[in-house]
Amino acid sequence: MGERLKLLYTREEIAGRVRALASAIDRDYAGADLVLVGILKGAFVFLADLIRELKVPPTVDFIGLSSYGQGTAPSGHVRLTKDLGLDIRGRDVLVVEDILDTGETLARLLETLRARGPRTLRTCLLIDKRYRRRVPVPVDYCGFVLDEGFVVGYGIDYAERYRHLPAIHVVEVARGEGA
Ligand code: IMP
Ligand code: MG
Repeated sequence: MGERLKLLYTREEIAGRVRALASAIDRDYAGADLVLVGILKGAFVFLADLIRELKVPPTVDFIGLSSYGQGTAPSGHVRLTKDLGLDIRGRDVLVVEDILDTGETLARLLETLRARGPRTLRTCLLIDKRYRRRVPVPVDYCGFVLDEGFVVGYGIDYAERYRHLPAIHVVEVARGEGA
């Protein structure tokens, strides 16, 4: 395991961005029937902090995804490993995700959710790697824009490790040690 971690966003910076996102959501969803849908597993810490800053009362659910066909073929699809328990028809759905990268996963998930007839459907991302986008995805709320690097911590993993770290770090693979 030749990787080293370099601090990128401190817990205080993250907390500040989460508070700002929550106040934007409070403003936009006053009186709405807000359903927060967290994408497992990466979004669980972000969602846990976000709901505690909200004044608009949300309901919360989670969805589990596993992506296939990651190559260049447009045949890639998203399989639900855990579906929602809540009915979202006619409701105001806000999808909460850790990182938006190529956009392929979230684009397909949005299609799946859209077909269930929510009244509104928007996205809230902790990190937007927008330079990596291959499929357009609407970004409604965004914590940070990241130009490059693979990150971990605050719920986000590298091979299932580092989710417990309270801050967000960039993974640096040490030279000469391989991956
Ligand atoms: P995409 O937008 O379909 O390419 O995939 C986004 C997903 O890839 C995210 O939800 C993460 O699960 C994962 N991912 C992308 N970049 C990173 C990263 O820097 N660290 C950890 N996971 C990442
Ligand atoms: Mg994810």
